[in-house]
Amino acid sequence: MPLFKVDTPLARHILTQLRDRNTNQVLFRKNLVRLGRLIGYEIANTMEVEEVTVETPLSTLARGVRIVGLERVVIVNVMRAATPLVEGLLKAFPSARQGVVVAKRKEGEFDSPPKEMEVDIHYYKFPDVKEEDNVIIADPMVATGSTILKVLELMRTSKAKKYYVASVLSSRYGVDRITKQYPYVNIFTVEVDPEINSMGYIVPGLGDAGDRAFG
Ligand code: PRP
Repeated sequence: MPLFKVDTPLARHILTQLRDRNTNQVLFRKNLVRLGRLIGYEIANTMEVEEVTVETPLSTLARGVRIVGLERVVIVNVMRAATPLVEGLLKAFPSARQGVVVAKRKEGEFDSPPKEMEVDIHYYKFPDVKEEDNVIIADPMVATGSTILKVLELMRTSKAKKYYVASVLSSRYGVDRITKQYPYVNIFTVEVDPEINSMGYIVPGLGDAGDRAFG
C-alpha cells in the first residue's frame, strides 16, 4: 500500500494549526519542523528491523532491535517550502545525506482544475545514491503531483532500495497520479484533501506553504 496517512492526534493538531489562516509565519514554520520529525519517525517505523544483542552497563546481555537502513537515508529538499520539513526529518535521520531541487510551478488561473502544471527546475543536485539507500523526497504539498513527478524523473537513473515522499497535505488526484506512474513510491502524508482549485491549490488546503513559511 503506497499511501500512509500520518493521522495521529498530534499530527492532526499541528496540521489544523497550519490550516488556520491566523497562524503566523514563525508558528507555521515551527509546525512544519514538528511534522517533519513525526513523519520521519513514521517512515522509520516501517523500515526493516533485525534482532541484535547488546551488553548493558551491568555486564548483562539484552536483546533488542536495529532498524536496517536508518543510517542509509538520502533526503531530497524540494525548495523552498520543504526546508523546515527537512529540518524535522533530520531529527529522525540525523546522518542522512541530502539532495536539493529548486522547483517552481508556473502559476496561473485555468478554466478548470489543472491536471498537471508546468514546473521550472532551476537547480538540482543529488548525492551519489546507492542500492542500499532509502530516498525521502520532502515537499509539504502534493497538489497536481507535477513537482514530485518531475523530481522522480530527475532521479530516474538512481536505483535506491526504497523511495518515499514526505508530505504534509496531498490531494487525492496528486496521490493517484504519482502512484499510477510510480507504484513503488511510498507516500507519507498527514491528510489527503479532496479538491484542487482552478489555480492548482489544494482545497480546503492551507494556502501557499512557501509564502506562509517564508513570507
Ligand atoms: C508548491 C509546493 C509544491 C508544489 C506542489 O511549490 O510547495 O512544491 O507547489 O504542487 P504540484 O503537486 O501541483 O506540483 P511552488 O511551486 O509554489 O514553489 P514554492 O515552494 O517556492 O512556493
